[in-house]
This record gives sequence, structure tokens and C-alpha cells, in this order.
Amino acid sequence: MRDDELQRALLDWYDAHARDLPWRVGPAARMRGELPDPYGVWLSEVMLQQTTVAAVKDYFLRFTTLWPTVGDLAAAEDADVMGEWAGLGYYARARNLLKCARVVAGDMDGRFPETEDGLRELPGIGPYTAAAIASIAFDRPAVVMDGNIERVMARIFAVETPLPAAKPELKSHAARLTPEDRPGCHAQALMDLGATICTPKSPACGICPVMAACAARKAGIAAGLPAKAPK
Ligand code: ADE
Repeated sequence: MRDDELQRALLDWYDAHARDLPWRVGPAARMRGELPDPYGVWLSEVMLQQTTVAAVKDYFLRFTTLWPTVGDLAAAEDADVMGEWAGLGYYARARNLLKCARVVAGDMDGRFPETEDGLRELPGIGPYTAAAIASIAFDRPAVVMDGNIERVMARIFAVETPLPAAKPELKSHAARLTPEDRPGCHAQALMDLGATICTPKSPACGICPVMAACAARKAGIAAGLPAKAPK
């Protein structure tokens, strides 16, 4: 399967099976030109940094009900925000969340930067989060790499080098696959594939939309990838 066929298969699968998540705009609406509110994308990505999708949903809905815009969050009392964050853990994230909201509301007219470089300058936004926001909220062809996407790349291209040494190679595969057209859906398709089918243990290769492209599946080594360096 060529790269363009793989991209097509992945997007077709996403169009039919995208998870319905409260911070998302679904593939059909995105194709009509709608994009999600960058505030919600940022908030969800910060919450998802060390917490599962299932746990984040309720927190996300609660935050966006209490503080519907970045300006509302920026104006909140620190103690109220920290109180609502309770249970999500990693409290440095919540402190950076407030710092970032105050920079965006105070210095940027409430508008998030649209580029990875611009986003990287904000408190609490590292390379992963900057790429995810640029891709999902602004449809920029940023290369989004997280643990799920590393695993999907390691399997499709049968990269047997252990992590973390394999990271540059995995990223170069992901970069080559990132399309100019619909990059936000492409990134979210990889996230969903990694979360629902190309799972760490017992991947569901039988129903995988890119099974025909997967070198690890062909070699019978999918479940063992990515390899981890011996301790
Ligand atoms: N994990 C991290 N970011 C995510 C997103 N935007 N959608 C689903 N899972 C994610």
C-alpha cells in the first residue's frame, strides 16, 4: 500500500468511526469548513497530557460550563480553578493552565497563536501539545507524536529499534504521512486508531483499516512493537 492509499484508508475509517468527544468537531462538519474552538482544543490537550479520555470528559464539560471562553478562565480565582482541577493530578498543569489563559486573554486578545512556534511560547505547551493544537484547531500539517502514534508508526513500518532510540525514525514516518489536506482529521484518526484498534496489548488487527499496509502484522510481530530497551 502506498502512503497516499494508507492516508485515504485512514481518513475513510475516521469519517465512519471517529469517536464523538466533547472537544471535537466531527469529520462531516470539518469537511464543511467548521473547526473546533481553539480554547477547547487547548484545554482538552492539557487535561489529556497525563489523564485518560474517559476521565477527562467530565472535567472538560465542567470547565467549559464554568468558563466558556479563555477570557472567563483568565478572570477566574486561582483557588476556584485549582478546586475544579482536583482529581486530575499534576497540579503544575493547572497552574500553567491559568498562566497561559492570562497571557492569551491579556496579550493576545483572547486568540491562540495558530502556529506550532507561536504556541510553544505559551506556559505549559510543549512540542506535543503545540503540534496537536496547530493540527486539530487550525488544520496545520503539524506532525503530532504521542505514545499512541509512535506505536502505530512502529507497527505499520515494522520499526524494531527499541524506544526511545526509535523516536526520530518514527517521527520521520509520521511526517511523511502527514497530509496537506485534512491534517487535523489525519492526526485524530491516528489517535483513535491507537486508542481503539492498535492498542498496546492484543491489537485488533482483524478489523484494522490499514491492515493491508501494516508490515508488523505481515511479519506477525505487531503485539511486540514498539520494542522497549532492556532495563
Ligand atoms: N489524546 C490526546 N489528545 C487527544 C484527542 N484530541 N483526542 C483523543 N485522544 C487524545
